[in-house]
Amino acid sequence: MPTLVYLIISLIKVTVYAHNCRITRQDNQTIADCTRLKLNDVPTDLPLDIAGLDLSYNQISMIQNDVFDSFSNLTTLTMDFNNLHTIYGDVFKGLKQLRWLSMNHNHLNISSFDIVLRPLLRLQHLDIRYNINKTLNKVEPMVYPYFGNLTYLTNLYMDLAQKTTP
Ligand SMILES: *[C@@H]1O[C@H](CO)[C@@H](O)[C@H](O)[C@H]1NC(C)=O
Ligand SMILES: *[C@@H]1O[C@H](CO)[C@@H](O)[C@H](O)[C@H]1NC(C)=O
Ligand SMILES: *[C@@H]1O[C@H](CO)[C@@H](O)[C@H](O)[C@H]1NC(C)=O
Ligand SMILES: *[C@@H]1O[C@H](CO)[C@@H](O)[C@H](O)[C@H]1NC(C)=O
Ligand SMILES: *[C@@H]1O[C@H](CO)[C@@H](O)[C@H](O)[C@H]1NC(C)=O
Repeated sequence: MPTLVYLIISLIKVTVYAHNCRITRQDNQTIADCTRLKLNDVPTDLPLDIAGLDLSYNQISMIQNDVFDSFSNLTTLTMDFNNLHTIYGDVFKGLKQLRWLSMNHNHLNISSFDIVLRPLLRLQHLDIRYNINKTLNKVEPMVYPYFGNLTYLTNLYMDLAQKTTP
């Protein structure tokens, strides 16, 4: 019985979280504003046709590998001010239309981003500032990812490390 109660409470919590995202339509585009909802995960029951998703100011630390797969029309994804530290290899593989990606103020290892960025061939704006751990940075040299395949990239915001590999 307590298990069932717990299950029901969990289900309600998840639903409430997703519903708390403010879904709006602007110029025929669906935008989901999920900022400041104390989210630990990316909500999964958002409308599939969203063009914009803002998850800033939450507590998301990991992104499941397939969570963005269904959002094939997403052009803008913002995840500033979270606790992101782990992003799996092909987590962005479904986001072929993505033009704007912002993940500043997290704990990401930018050096491992080659594979992560690979599917984002339309990317124009990338903001990965404030991810360098200064303590770590002294020990280990920073290796920048390869941006050469992102042909449309015009705005890149990134920390400059004190130590880089030549
Ligand atoms: C929105 O969609 C309607 C119907 O398809 C169309 O008439 C209108 O021009 C569109 N508006 C914009 C801003 O794209
Ligand atoms: C994405 O946009 C295309 C073209 O407007 C539309 O046909 C398709 O159904 C949309 N996909 C989703 C998942 O909403
Ligand atoms: C960051 O990623 C690079 C490349 O994958 C790896 O060599 C390095 O050990 C990683 N650093 C940390 C702190 O995980
Ligand atoms: C860039 O594109 C080339 C040619 O498609 C490919 O061989 C290479 O692995 C790509 N590099 C990265 C970092 O994605
Ligand atoms: C930086 O990394 C060190 C070693 O892993 C860790 O002890 C420290 O808490 C990190 N600092 C921040 C601000 O993440």
